Amino acid sequence: MKYLIANWKAQMTLNDILEWLRVFMLSLQNNQTLITKLKNNELSIVICPPFPFIPTVRDHIKNITGMYVGAQDVSTVAQGKYTGEVTADALKDIADYVIVGHSERREHFHETEKQIELKMSLADQYSIRSIQCVRNEQDAIYDHAKLIAYEPVEAIGTGANAAVEDVLSMKKRLSIPENVPFLYGGSADTSNIHDYLKTHEVDGFLVGTASLDAKEFYQMAIQMIS
Ligand code: PGA
Repeated sequence: MKYLIANWKAQMTLNDILEWLRVFMLSLQNNQTLITKLKNNELSIVICPPFPFIPTVRDHIKNITGMYVGAQDVSTVAQGKYTGEVTADALKDIADYVIVGHSERREHFHETEKQIELKMSLADQYSIRSIQCVRNEQDAIYDHAKLIAYEPVEAIGTGANAAVEDVLSMKKRLSIPENVPFLYGGSADTSNIHDYLKTHEVDGFLVGTASLDAKEFYQMAIQMIS
């Protein structure tokens, strides 16, 4: 099973998303091979929009087996009087996955290891699968991680994706638990994912910039099944 995950970050409006879905779903619906591979669990596509647009995306993909929706964050609190928080309990019926521990949250929102672990534990309680991001071997990997995404900070949003050898050597140093898929993230796009895929050591990609373009993201999906 391979994973292609779109992390739209704080970059899309409702109109952008409706247009993205129109273009992507049109291409997908005309590609029986891709539909079949999604159905056969050869590839999972996960779209992580900003919170307000989760239901919209969910609605558009609901008839495609193998396509899922993810949140970009989840609260550290279970429930209660915490204005503005979005809990795992609230997400459980609308999101299948959640991104946790992204370096942008660690840096800009001072997210700590303790908070990351708490978020993943809450997600797990509600059967939301955590995509845990790690920057290097200094970041802990938690039992609650259902997928691990190695994202070197210098490769994120820069166009300078990490060298394949560096990703493979980091994979060894990270000691990924058996059966936990290992993803790469950091300027992944159609020009470079093949290099990682051909090693058979990388199970998928967490994609920021290239995922904003529906056609580019669709082409990445095609590369992943060919
Ligand atoms: P990028 O972002 O593809 O724009 O480098 C990846 C990420 O931050 O998850």
